[in-house]
Amino acid sequence: MKRLGVTTLLLLAGLAPVWAVEQAGLLEDGRRIARESCSQCHLVEGAGKPMLQGPAFADIAAMPSTTSVAIKVFLKTPHANMPDIILSEAEIDALAIYILSLRKR
Ligand code: HEC
Repeated sequence: MKRLGVTTLLLLAGLAPVWAVEQAGLLEDGRRIARESCSQCHLVEGAGKPMLQGPAFADIAAMPSTTSVAIKVFLKTPHANMPDIILSEAEIDALAIYILSLRKR
């Protein structure tokens, strides 16, 4: 049991950099998708002038109710005021990571 624990730990330590690189890739994807598909209505990042029908992503990120799951569910369900943008699972994952990255720590 103890040996298994150590092996698992070593394995995880070895995988951590891979995981970090993957997350960074998703973060970049999310930023790009947000700029391309969401910025007409949401203030995505920094300056810029969307029509501002929707809340700024930084504000969405700041809400305590915003979790990765909440964002994913939101993006998979139809909304009255937001068009149903067709996104793949991977794009939704990337957007969730990106939006949450805007949360101030
Ligand atoms: C045509 C305008 C429009 C576009 C394009 C748009 N949104 Fe929205 N979005 C809105 C509006 C308006 C709201 C607020 C009303 C609502 O909650 O239905 C909203 C709300 C949201 C919320 C929920 C905030 C909350 O209160 O929980 C999220 C998350 C979100 N948008 C993400 C996105 C993402 C990601 C994209 C791009 C893939 C996107 N939106 C594209 C208009 C838009």
